[in-house]
Amino acid sequence: MLQCHDQLSRNSLKSFTMYSQQTIVLTLAFVLISGGTLKTADHGTGKAPQHIHISYGDLPSQMIITWSTPNKTDLSSVHYGRELLHLVNVEEGSSHIFVDGGTEKRSQYIHRVDLKGLTGNTTYYYKVRSEESESGAFYFRTMPEGQDWSPRLAVFGDMGATNAQSLPRLELDAAKGMYDAVIHVGDFAYDLSKDNGKIGDQFMQEIQSLAASVPYMTCVGNHENSYNFSNYRARFNMPNDNGKMYYSFNMGPVHFVSISTEFLYFPDYGFTQIYEQYDWLKKDLMEANQPENRSKRPWIVTFGHRPMYCSNNDNDDCTSNESLVRVGVPLLRILSLEDLYYQQGVDLSIWAHEHSYERLWPVYNLKVRNGSYESPYTNPGGITHIITGSAGCSERHEYFQKNPPPWSAYHSSDYGYTRMTFANKTHLYVEQVSDDKNGEIIDSFTLIKEQHGPYGDLNNRV
Ligand SMILES: *[C@@H]1O[C@H](CO)[C@@H](O)[C@H](O)[C@H]1NC(C)=O
Ligand SMILES: *[C@@H]1O[C@H](CO)[C@@H](O)[C@H](O)[C@H]1NC(C)=O
Ligand SMILES: *[C@@H]1O[C@H](CO)[C@@H](O)[C@H](O)[C@H]1NC(C)=O
Ligand SMILES: *[C@@H]1O[C@H](CO)[C@@H](O)[C@H](O)[C@H]1NC(C)=O
Ligand SMILES: *[C@@H]1O[C@H](CO)[C@@H](O)[C@H](O)[C@H]1NC(C)=O
Ligand SMILES: *[C@@H]1O[C@H](CO)[C@@H](O)[C@H](O)[C@H]1NC(C)=O
Ligand SMILES: *[C@@H]1O[C@H](CO)[C@@H](O)[C@H](O)[C@H]1NC(C)=O
Ligand SMILES: [Fe+2]
Repeated sequence: MLQCHDQLSRNSLKSFTMYSQQTIVLTLAFVLISGGTLKTADHGTGKAPQHIHISYGDLPSQMIITWSTPNKTDLSSVHYGRELLHLVNVEEGSSHIFVDGGTEKRSQYIHRVDLKGLTGNTTYYYKVRSEESESGAFYFRTMPEGQDWSPRLAVFGDMGATNAQSLPRLELDAAKGMYDAVIHVGDFAYDLSKDNGKIGDQFMQEIQSLAASVPYMTCVGNHENSYNFSNYRARFNMPNDNGKMYYSFNMGPVHFVSISTEFLYFPDYGFTQIYEQYDWLKKDLMEANQPENRSKRPWIVTFGHRPMYCSNNDNDDCTSNESLVRVGVPLLRILSLEDLYYQQGVDLSIWAHEHSYERLWPVYNLKVRNGSYESPYTNPGGITHIITGSAGCSERHEYFQKNPPPWSAYHSSDYGYTRMTFANKTHLYVEQVSDDKNGEIIDSFTLIKEQHGPYGDLNNRV
């Protein structure tokens, strides 16, 4: 019952946006059609599509559509088109069984369809179909081609199935067309695997309205660790990832890199993954730094779950001066991500895990590297970090040390999320929304880089 009610209110939210964007006729059509979702409810067949979500594909002209059905169906197809009433294109995909590792060994079928050959900067409407059951209609917008546009994202981590406090506000923002994509920086549902995967199912349904309309890009967190991260791997399809849990993608003037910080903390699942990811990461960053690439896409932004730095008062690894993510092998600095990011000139590093928000001054090796005292974020000599893990979850807020270290610029324990706009090749605007304060912007800054590249070069010049 709850879910039906949920669906209704989300659909009316969607039709509200349509009202402002399109015509009233279209709105009515949309309401009628998405009303179909309820009619095609699962009459005990277990074949109705659920957990519908999208992510960018390997190319800007692609979009990956993922959903789930409890029972096997012989069809996984997406009907789509530029007009809601003419979903003239059909793309077929496939499904595979996913068996949760819990005692009940619950199974479900995960369907994946890769839409290809899409036109850039275009709104597409779509429905997903599994045999006789069809979903309601959703729409997404493809990313514009090339580099000369301004990606806008919502970024947050640590959002649970219970107490997902920021989710309604994120949905409202997304319905207004404020975001090209969303990044969820690890820790989902609390947990995807809990109660034999039922909490994961609940979470995937809760985010459907947001994640079916805006590419929902992810990285893995510690809460996904059960059964070798199998719930995470099964439920999310990321571009060029192939279940490895690290990948990169380009978006306008930005090269985004998603990593797993968890290989370091769960070596029992295979410590070679630590090396494999590091080697891949180094190659990926070096390629992004090829002059023809970096001049086109000067921003390099990484995201991973557990921070290198944090000034919370909870004794997590990031509160130590030698966090594993930062230094790699302690004292020897083998596999140090901070050194790699510094050498490769990563502009911004995004983290979560702490249920709070923190902004750092540009930093390297525990030392602040302000661009200048007056304009710390203009041509800084170190990496800028933000920690944004306060979307809302059952584990509640996390708080801070009384006397934060000199690299800590701002912090807040409010629930909320981060918005960022890459205005162009030199200006990145970041702001923090407090959901506790009814959407108030509690922090903002502009990172200005007239020149992007390895920091070593920059600092040697000084
Ligand atoms: C799956 O199909 C079987 C019949 O083939 C049915 O008994 C069962 O209830 C279905 N599962 C779900 C979750 O609806
Ligand atoms: C994308 O389309 C919108 C509206 O159709 C237009 O205003 C905008 O300039 C386009 N962006 C790019 C980068 O082409
Ligand atoms: C965990 O999964 C990874 C990726 O599939 C695999 O390489 C590794 O061997 C697995 N570890 C265990 C202990 O099964
Ligand atoms: C770098 O440039 C090459 C050649 O244009 C391209 O194939 C590749 O995708 C680019 N890599 C990145 C990370 O942008
Ligand atoms: C961490 O390093 C700073 C100086 O860089 C020092 O002041 C502080 O005491 C160190 N903290 C610990 C726990 O070692
Ligand atoms: C960096 O800049 C900020 C803002 O001006 C300032 O508060 C802070 O003390 C600076 N840190 C250092 C080490 O200069
Ligand atoms: C980049 O964006 C900033 C902020 O909107 C603006 O002030 C600046 O003029 C832009 N630079 C270029 C080259 O367009
Ligand atoms: Fe976490």
